[in-house]
Amino acid sequence: MAKKIVIAGGGVLGTQIGLICAYHGFDTTFWLRSEASIGRTQPKIERYSNLMLEDLAKAKSLVGNPMGAFLYPRGLVTDWQSASPESIDALIAQAKDRFANLIHLETDMAKAVKDADLVIESMSEDPEAKIGVYEAMKDLLDEKTILCTNSSTLLPSTFAEHTGRPGKYCALHFANTIWKNNTAEVMGHPGTDPEVYQAVVTFAGEIGMVPLQLHKEQPGYILNSMLVPFLSAAQALWATGVADPKTIDLTWELATSAPAGPFKILDIVGLETAYNINQMKPQAQVEGSIENQIGKLLKEKIEKGETGVNAGKGFYDYN
Ligand SMILES: NC(=O)c1ccc[n+]([C@@H]2O[C@H](COP(=O)([O-])OP(=O)(O)OC[C@H]3O[C@@H](n4cnc5c(N)ncnc54)[C@H](O)[C@@H]3O)[C@@H](O)[C@H]2O)c1
Repeated sequence: MAKKIVIAGGGVLGTQIGLICAYHGFDTTFWLRSEASIGRTQPKIERYSNLMLEDLAKAKSLVGNPMGAFLYPRGLVTDWQSASPESIDALIAQAKDRFANLIHLETDMAKAVKDADLVIESMSEDPEAKIGVYEAMKDLLDEKTILCTNSSTLLPSTFAEHTGRPGKYCALHFANTIWKNNTAEVMGHPGTDPEVYQAVVTFAGEIGMVPLQLHKEQPGYILNSMLVPFLSAAQALWATGVADPKTIDLTWELATSAPAGPFKILDIVGLETAYNINQMKPQAQVEGSIENQIGKLLKEKIEKGETGVNAGKGFYDYN
């Protein structure tokens, strides 16, 4: 279906989404608000494209290894069963070619969205900023253009009327490290046209994602509706002094055969994000509450620079 994809926002996720679209052969334009944004996005494109190419190169040594089926970059190799070192080399060559030729950066919104089949908004989680861009974009979009948001916490019904095309608007939510964790949660609002919804589901499959269909709006989608309470329960055990993070992780890993317990997951998510989620709870402001204690403990670690895997240290040491 879609031929031209536009990504609004060149941050952590926007960059990854644009790269995965180009990797799978779609002409991809990043709309960025200024030359300064281009300056910030270009190094991210460089960084994430290199990570994707490195993971493809590593996947060659996984061919024939029984663990390979669990470890290969699922968003990049669509048919692992028939993959060979030679076929992966061909994917690497094709990716380099596509990254060089299919990605465009544009600050002029009208030029960026002209003829777009699909626009994926992946801007900061700031409702006013998102509304401002939807309002600016709505008269520039072609009749055919479908608009999606990658918002993690905001519902599409909040924005539908601001897009000027509620029927052609829904959420398409990706996970960080999209080329390995290839989930695409597709969530409409009550006014989303079912045909548009299905077109988005099809597109998600075309870019190497596994489309996960939600039948109604749900804050946190499927994943975070489970993950956030799970991580909160683990943090409460820590904050109330029941057990230390390593023991809590070990319990979960041994008892369920899961590869990572909640504190390893928190290190991957990043402690700033965990702190922000905790502080949104009204109880976090109540002195003496468990949430208040969780906030204090997370803040102590953040102030020491122990914010997780990206910082080299969180609940675990990665150096
Ligand atoms: N980081 C994650 O793990 C993750 C995972 C899934 C979904 N998301 C969602 O993706 C979206 C982007 O998150 P991110 O982590 O990439 O954020 P980020 O902070 O890395 O990037 C945000 C981008 O939005 C741009 N932006 C902000 N205000 C703008 C404006 N007024 N006009 C134009 N551009 C503007 C910034 O320049 C930047 O390029 C959010 O809605 C978030 O909820 C994030």
